[in-house]
Amino acid sequence: MMSKAETVPNTDPRPREAATTLPVYGQLPFVPERAAGCDIITADGRRILDLYGGHAVAALGYGHPRLTRAISEQSSKLVFQSNAVALDIRARAAEKLLGVAPDEMRRVFFVNSGAEANENALRMACVVTNRNKILAITQGFHGRTAAAAAVTWNSDKWYGFPYKPFHVDFIPREDCQAAIEMIGSDIAAVIVEPVQGVAGAYDLSAEFLAALRSSTRRHGALLIADEVQSGMGRCGHFFAVQAHGIDPDIITSAKALGGGIPCGAILCTEDITPHFGPGDLGTTFGGGPVAAAAICAVIDTIETDDLLANVRAREAQIRDQCVVGPVQKIQGMGLLLGLVCDRPAVEVRNALLQYDVLTGTSADPHVLRILAPLVLEAMHIDHLTNALESLAPRSN
Ligand SMILES: Cc1ncc(COP(=O)(O)O)c(C=O)c1O
Repeated sequence: MMSKAETVPNTDPRPREAATTLPVYGQLPFVPERAAGCDIITADGRRILDLYGGHAVAALGYGHPRLTRAISEQSSKLVFQSNAVALDIRARAAEKLLGVAPDEMRRVFFVNSGAEANENALRMACVVTNRNKILAITQGFHGRTAAAAAVTWNSDKWYGFPYKPFHVDFIPREDCQAAIEMIGSDIAAVIVEPVQGVAGAYDLSAEFLAALRSSTRRHGALLIADEVQSGMGRCGHFFAVQAHGIDPDIITSAKALGGGIPCGAILCTEDITPHFGPGDLGTTFGGGPVAAAAICAVIDTIETDDLLANVRAREAQIRDQCVVGPVQKIQGMGLLLGLVCDRPAVEVRNALLQYDVLTGTSADPHVLRILAPLVLEAMHIDHLTNALESLAPRSN
């Protein structure tokens, strides 16, 4: 019998994760070893085109020299200091972020994730308005913490807490009349994803978003745009609201914000600022120097490499080429796209993986989600098109 020390090490992380971590994730059938550009490379040398970007995080793809240099230089200089001290790199990240946001956005509060950004945005709305009722949109997703999950559609099956922190109601998506009727002077805020990501990259109409904006303004409620998935260039604008000329009171950001370094941000108008002073909001890691350096590098790269134009060009190419095989139509904006399929999206996702193309599913069983890096190239879409064409349409 072998002693413990002599046991041959098991290098496959799948059984080891299964034995040591909570079993809350379904996992894909490959193990990335490294990644470069838009490709994930596995230990056995397989190269998989990543059109899912780690849940919309890998805005610059993998190993982008500007991002890796920024992270490495910052971590060798100063890896961490909290908000108890001012930092040049944090000030620069705030300046850059406000510089690319809608004009009305004048202040930033840095946090660590999308849920934390929404949690604070909702708290801010309750404080500013002194009201306790929030409206969200059916099919929306806003995160897993107490307040963010309370405004997430259909979260009851996993919510877990005994109570919700405030009253919540859901406006049926695209129902302008319902929006006008439901938004009254008792509402603290309406929270909306301009393009509903988890729902299947469903792009809400300019008319619906405008109805939310005008009704909230009329009744002194705040409009929170959750751009955790749709923001940071993904929709061909720095923020998707800019495509519609909508000025929210608060924008939340995370995911692509740090290109892979965990971070989040809440952007808000100057009107909100006087309601908050020392001790009213806080977080240890938010605005840390490495995250701030990553935010600067992501924004600089989107601007220098003209990635917003690239996103729009690649979106046009996908719309032009990819209604083939199982795909019946395409919804969404920029590189947050939903390919509506003639069969369960999970079947298409699994079949595409056989062709070394990774896509995502969504809450809509027939919608396959594309959340590709903003550095996606034309040849990658040709590869996707060929793979889709090899899956014959189903006649029914
Ligand atoms: C629109 C939106 N908001 C919030 C979140 C939650 O972000 P995080 O997982 O960073 O907490 C997500 C995550 O998918 C999201 O898509």
